Amino acid sequence: MSLTITSTEFGLFQQFIEKECGISIGDEKAYLIETRLSKLLLENGCENFGQFYTLVQQNASLKNKIIDAMTTNETLWFRDTSPYAILKEQIFPKLAQEIQEGKRRQVRIWSAACSSGQEPYSISMIAHELFRNGKAKELDNGKLSILATDLSNAVLFLAKMGRYDPISISRGMPDDLRDRYFKQDGRVYVLDPSIRQMVQFQQMNLMNSFDSIGKFDIIMLRNVAIYFSTEFKINLFRKIAQSLNPGGYLFLGASESMFGYSTDFERLEANSGSYYQLKRSAL
Ligand SMILES: C[S@@+](CC[C@H](N)C(=O)[O-])C[C@H]1O[C@@H](n2cnc3c(N)ncnc32)[C@H](O)[C@@H]1O
Repeated sequence: MSLTITSTEFGLFQQFIEKECGISIGDEKAYLIETRLSKLLLENGCENFGQFYTLVQQNASLKNKIIDAMTTNETLWFRDTSPYAILKEQIFPKLAQEIQEGKRRQVRIWSAACSSGQEPYSISMIAHELFRNGKAKELDNGKLSILATDLSNAVLFLAKMGRYDPISISRGMPDDLRDRYFKQDGRVYVLDPSIRQMVQFQQMNLMNSFDSIGKFDIIMLRNVAIYFSTEFKINLFRKIAQSLNPGGYLFLGASESMFGYSTDFERLEANSGSYYQLKRSAL
């Protein structure tokens, strides 16, 4: 038995993973395949990565398990603070006013790589906090909806449950919001239905067409494009532009940029950070 991956085996897995989910694994990262897939290899009775690759090609559920193992699902509540401050202070009040003035009927948000739900639920909490304080009320009563998608069924399962352990809760969740929007069931924190109701979850691969999900006013594409090749990013940002309504907003991760991949967006600066708006010329 050998759990050391050969360069030929690495090449096979590298191509397979890029083809299935767009994640590009650099030549220097063979160790990632070894560390993340060895357990699955052993569980499936394989002797080496070559045998395992052959088995994977014949087994769809094993393919999904590999994708789950190879995706980085790191996330936290109100990650980087800035997008949530911008939504709360600028975008939600503006969109609420547009509803009040009869310029729009609804607001649709897409959390495009939602992992275990912290991102879409944080947005829902921001909206509920505004409503609680008598602000942006025009977005209440079903006018604001959030579609949350991810490639990995494993994280979507966790997200839909809305149940979080104390460690996940401790990562970014302010005490007052935890006390307001969660009930404790033993050591588990259970999210309030009012926050869950605003969010619909769906499995979706960003490599596929976005035509079936319609258009959005705000898209969160945070901390996912970093894993993709340049070619995939160019194509992805084009599809994202086509999925935004005129004047729609896009948020990337704090360390991510659109520079070199798309000219369809204008970069806007706020006190807390930057975000993007679809240019008129992109319509
Ligand atoms: C690092 S997490 C980011 C979660 C959240 N957006 C945040 O910023 O905290 C990246 C997520 O992207 C998902 N992902 C990776 N490749 C994907 C693809 N091709 N299509 C859809 N989701 C993908 C992973 O499953 C993972 O949950």
